[in-house]
Amino acid sequence: MSKILIINASVVPKENSRSFAITELFLEKYKLNNPQDEIIVLDLNNEEMAKQSLWKGNMNAFWTPELSGKYQDQIKSVDKLVMVTPMINWNISPLLKNYIDRITLANVTFSYSKSTHPEGIPAGLLTNIKSFQAITTKGSPTHWYSEFINIGEYLNGLFTLLGAKVKPALVLGGMDMPPLVGQKPSDVAKVFEKEITEAANKF
Ligand SMILES: Cc1cc2nc3c(=O)[nH]c(=O)nc-3n(C[C@H](O)[C@H](O)[C@H](O)COP(=O)(O)O)c2cc1C
Repeated sequence: MSKILIINASVVPKENSRSFAITELFLEKYKLNNPQDEIIVLDLNNEEMAKQSLWKGNMNAFWTPELSGKYQDQIKSVDKLVMVTPMINWNISPLLKNYIDRITLANVTFSYSKSTHPEGIPAGLLTNIKSFQAITTKGSPTHWYSEFINIGEYLNGLFTLLGAKVKPALVLGGMDMPPLVGQKPSDVAKVFEKEITEAANKF
């Protein structure tokens, strides 16, 4: 039995969120093969720490046990991780950036002293994560902006560095353009059922 953490970083309310509906369909497919797994959902919209970004005034109080330590412990305790974010202003969601700032800490989730790289690139300590799946959406067509930003590849690169085993990211575009714009989130998810099912079967 595996313990799975789902991190939702969409800033869109659940009832309108395409990434939420896509994640629901992903989980539905995943549970068909893995009915016993424990699923933990962390919605960053409900977490105070995800709404406070790092600045010079809070450097000393940023990585406290309550605001950061408990999330580091959580991510170190799971076997699999699903990270869900739309593209927001050509980047990951700001909630997710704040989360990442809190869990990426030397000697907790990565280590310079344990590096085996010839130039000292740090070793990842999140080797507990045997499967990492990024689910990303964007309003524009999938290929737009990919010459300078692909948030799925960014998350996969980061979590590889941190020691996780990553799966190909789902990068699902066109959410705010015809024919998807205005469709019910559950109908949008069905449009991508093939890719979602393949990813769920390999997760
Ligand atoms: C504040 C904001 C900024 C956004 N910035 C971008 C962007 O830079 N590029 C893009 O393709 N889509 C952008 N979008 C569109 C979202 O990525 C898209 O609507 C996404 O599907 C919303 O999240 P959801 O999948 O949870 O519904 C933006 C949406 C919002 C609300």
